[in-house]
Amino acid sequence: MDLIIRRAVLAHTHPAGHPSVDIGIEGGRIAAVEPHLAAAAREEIDAAGALVSAPFVDAHFHMDATLSYGLPRVNTSGTLLEGIALWGELKPQLTQEALIERALQYCDWAVARGLLAIRSHVDVCDGRLLAVEALLEVKRRVAPYLDLQLVAFPQDGVLRSPGAFDNLKRAIAMGVDVVGGIPHFERTMADGAESVRLLCEFAAEKGLRVDMHCDESDDPLSRHIETLAAQTHRLGLHGRVAGSHLTSMHSMDNYYVSKLIPLMRESGVAAIANPLINITLQGRSDTYPKRRGMTRVPELMAAGVTVAFGHDCVMDPWYSFGSGDMLEVAHMGLHVAQMTGTDASRACFDAVTVNAASILGLEDYGVAPGCAANLVVLDARDPIEAIRLRAARLAVVSRGRVVSRQPAQRAALALAGRPESVDFRLHR
Ligand code: FE2
Repeated sequence: MDLIIRRAVLAHTHPAGHPSVDIGIEGGRIAAVEPHLAAAAREEIDAAGALVSAPFVDAHFHMDATLSYGLPRVNTSGTLLEGIALWGELKPQLTQEALIERALQYCDWAVARGLLAIRSHVDVCDGRLLAVEALLEVKRRVAPYLDLQLVAFPQDGVLRSPGAFDNLKRAIAMGVDVVGGIPHFERTMADGAESVRLLCEFAAEKGLRVDMHCDESDDPLSRHIETLAAQTHRLGLHGRVAGSHLTSMHSMDNYYVSKLIPLMRESGVAAIANPLINITLQGRSDTYPKRRGMTRVPELMAAGVTVAFGHDCVMDPWYSFGSGDMLEVAHMGLHVAQMTGTDASRACFDAVTVNAASILGLEDYGVAPGCAANLVVLDARDPIEAIRLRAARLAVVSRGRVVSRQPAQRAALALAGRPESVDFRLHR
């Protein structure tokens, strides 16, 4: 074996009667998951009863904007509208080199936090497609250790912005993976519905996945998710389509939602909430009571809809916080959705791991023989404790190689009531 992680506690599957397992890795793949591996390895990690999970997956991000906070000026109001205006000011000043540098820096942050797969939207409304070229280059460079999936995103509306559909098609031809959209930003509801039809037909023709910014609004009558589900069903795209944000669902009439959620389930449309952003940008013009704006996460999950949480933004025109930590995202999602029950809390961990992996279509994701050897060792005993502590990433393994490691955090361990673990030794 190349690497063995011993005494690992898993998030889900566990052999009955065994408190932990050994994970054997060979040739970049998980070769064995057994209570006690007799084999030796060139390198060993003693997890000592810590949680070992498949890596975090971010289902919704904007890597073309990340780490640009303050360029060309800061968003003083912190609102969505000033953020959009700022992005408009920044776009003409973007250079490929600066964009690549910032994206690669973010990927370093991501790796250190055990985030090894990211779906990033990339704005295609600028005919130069400079950001597309830059992120395709980043995708190529990080491929040895991080899965970067790109969505062709017409930020200013595929119908509203002149040339945007042609730009989107060019981006796909250049190697962008997923078809994006933003129906609520088109001029009318009818244009929004038409954009969904056009984009879904294009995706069906090309055999691609779809992920649209959909109904990122407090308007309860913004119902493009209904059209997205209907087009998904009509074109047979089940399991390949996601609606991102879906914040209008927070404000919708309950009777209407009782029809909508089963329609989403029937179509196999997934939902991606972005708790950090939704909680700060939605309901912004309300007085009190103030709507919180996140989509109906527990209700969607209960109905069998796949739900993931995305980070959306880190230090960009819309959001000046964040660090690539999907446990912070899960922590916020859990609080906003009031998912403090045991099963609900664990479901929030799934929303930044296995559910997000399923939306991205990562085929060899998991902790089982045959899966890609992508793993994170967390300074926690279980997924709920990991969220509570935003647990330290003690070791991160990508393609069978240890790519990041950090010592146990004594303060966090003391808080967890595990003084015996202070002597945690990562490597023998
Ligand atoms: Fe977004």
